[in-house]
Amino acid sequence: MPDDSHAELARRAGEVLERNRRGDWTCPSRDFYPHQWLWDSCFVAIGLARHDPQRAAQEVRALFRGQWANGMLPHMIFADGARDAGSRRIWRSKTHPDAPRDVETSCITQPPLVSVTVGRVAENLSAADRNAFLEELFPKLVAYHEWLYRERDPRQRGLVTLLHPWECGLDTTPPWMRALRRMAQPWWLRLALRWRLARGARLFRRDTRYLPSGERASDNDGLRMLVLIQRAKRHGFALERMPPGESVLIEDLAFNAFLAFANRSLGEIADTIGQSLHPGLLDRCHATEVALEELWDETSGQYYSRDAQTDRLIKLPTIATFLPLLAGVPSDERAQRLIALLREPSGFWPRYPVPSVATDAPAFDADRYWKGPTWVNTNWAIIAGLRACGEDELARELRYRTLELVARAGFSEYFSPLTGEGYGADDFSWTAALALDLVEGESPAP
Ligand code: GLC
Repeated sequence: MPDDSHAELARRAGEVLERNRRGDWTCPSRDFYPHQWLWDSCFVAIGLARHDPQRAAQEVRALFRGQWANGMLPHMIFADGARDAGSRRIWRSKTHPDAPRDVETSCITQPPLVSVTVGRVAENLSAADRNAFLEELFPKLVAYHEWLYRERDPRQRGLVTLLHPWECGLDTTPPWMRALRRMAQPWWLRLALRWRLARGARLFRRDTRYLPSGERASDNDGLRMLVLIQRAKRHGFALERMPPGESVLIEDLAFNAFLAFANRSLGEIADTIGQSLHPGLLDRCHATEVALEELWDETSGQYYSRDAQTDRLIKLPTIATFLPLLAGVPSDERAQRLIALLREPSGFWPRYPVPSVATDAPAFDADRYWKGPTWVNTNWAIIAGLRACGEDELARELRYRTLELVARAGFSEYFSPLTGEGYGADDFSWTAALALDLVEGESPAP
């Protein structure tokens, strides 16, 4: 049973989710992120599943408003009337034949947690509603997983390739930013970087109008990410058409670990409604679990993302190394090495764990976005991973520390792993939703 302070935290979390509610779906933060995001809504639905499974089911259904005819689930669905018109103009989704006609969306995806979410929501629906919900969503989920394999793993290597850092969810994580810096830049960007003019881009940025620039992506990284969108747009956001040298293509560790986790949920959903995944898809799911092991580096005892163009691991230590635990993929020996790494006080276990980048890594920056801060969604995933490999005590400790951090600092977007100070947007939906899930569930596993 939750103690009093946890019950109070849960009450306040519920209020945040109510304030951020936009009819059928919930925005990540009122002023700052007014649209619907794919993995944010998954976390919101997971947090709401026990309290209000009907609302959680609506949150998931709202995501499928944005599903493309080819099966893709976009990382953003734009809200009508939101002031932020700039970001929808970047994409112009309706010029793409597969995009929906009645809503505008982005043209890339985000971590594929939606099958996990559907499973969690369904468990909490009444028996009568459960099967109808699963039967309604199962074909749409299959279409999404099939799109991932068809369009993003055309060489059938088992790992999905991403074409933009926003797809991995950990937007400015060092492996992506390093690959982006090495990509051939257009002349005007080279000039802007050389003459330190990139700062001028701040005039057009929304985030730094609300938040200190030191907590966000740097102007240089921000401009490079925009260049990458323009290039991807020119090539129809199609992986196979992206020109080598002018693109960044990464077999992203976090994304593929989440995919392996979600594939298992998809299989369970099929079982529940007496259906099965067709053999082709089952083979691809199996191949992902096998191929994740190719991302292991024996010397450092860590998993890494892989550059899909050079086939080299990008050996920078980030929080993604722990995510294969979630999918139950690592052997006992590898899991034990990961757990020893996690508990290292000068690396991933500072006062407020788990930092998005190890605190002793050169790229570590305690208050900048995905370059160091602790995030509640990755903690939630690591807690589930620890439980999946039988590390219940460590999972309990991380759960306790995560809730303590949120209770002290509030529902911030992210936190300093050194001081516990909250950064980024306030009243952030996934912080609230996952705190709710952690308070109520001893186990955040699906
Ligand atoms: C930030 C995060 C991304 C999230 C989005 C909306 O861009 O990096 O993962 O989905 O905000 O909250």
